[in-house]
Amino acid sequence: MRIAVCPGSFDPVTRGHLDIIERAAGMFDKVIVAVLNNSGKNSLFTIEERIELLKSTCAHIENVEVDTFPRLLIDYMKQKNASVIVKGLRAVSDFEYEMQMALMNRKLAPSIETVFLMTNSRYSFLSSSLVREVARLGGDITGMVPELIQEEIYKRFS
Ligand code: PNS
Repeated sequence: MRIAVCPGSFDPVTRGHLDIIERAAGMFDKVIVAVLNNSGKNSLFTIEERIELLKSTCAHIENVEVDTFPRLLIDYMKQKNASVIVKGLRAVSDFEYEMQMALMNRKLAPSIETVFLMTNSRYSFLSSSLVREVARLGGDITGMVPELIQEEIYKRFS
């Protein structure tokens, strides 16, 4: 069984994330969406909230599970028997950081591959941090996050 992991902070999950998760689910037997347990002062949602929101967002995708990991991604991957890390690439600006992480992960665990999916161009401008900022400042985030996430974000700032 080919198991892939889509790791991230998902604070909040955006439509760009969902697009990558859905496409990964079509490529692998099982996809684990793994939320890094790094709840900081500036987090919008707690880890538990992010997991619940991701579970609702991904409920329509049969072979997707949602989980959290506390430390090194590759240790979590080994524990789950997962062999592929799936990341989305939005623009050249993502590339340097993503390449560094992919090469570090390969150094730490040569048998684990990182696969990059080009983001859907409709979402190439999207990031969780910008969505948080726009929502915090009262802007309209319609279409940027799944509808149920949008409601939760507005509740948070109302
Ligand atoms: O959504 P993000 O914040 O861009 O996700 C970054 C994430 C969680 C994928 C990355 O920070 C990560 O894998 N962290 C786990 C710690 C780790 O394994 N570090 C070494 C990788 S180079």
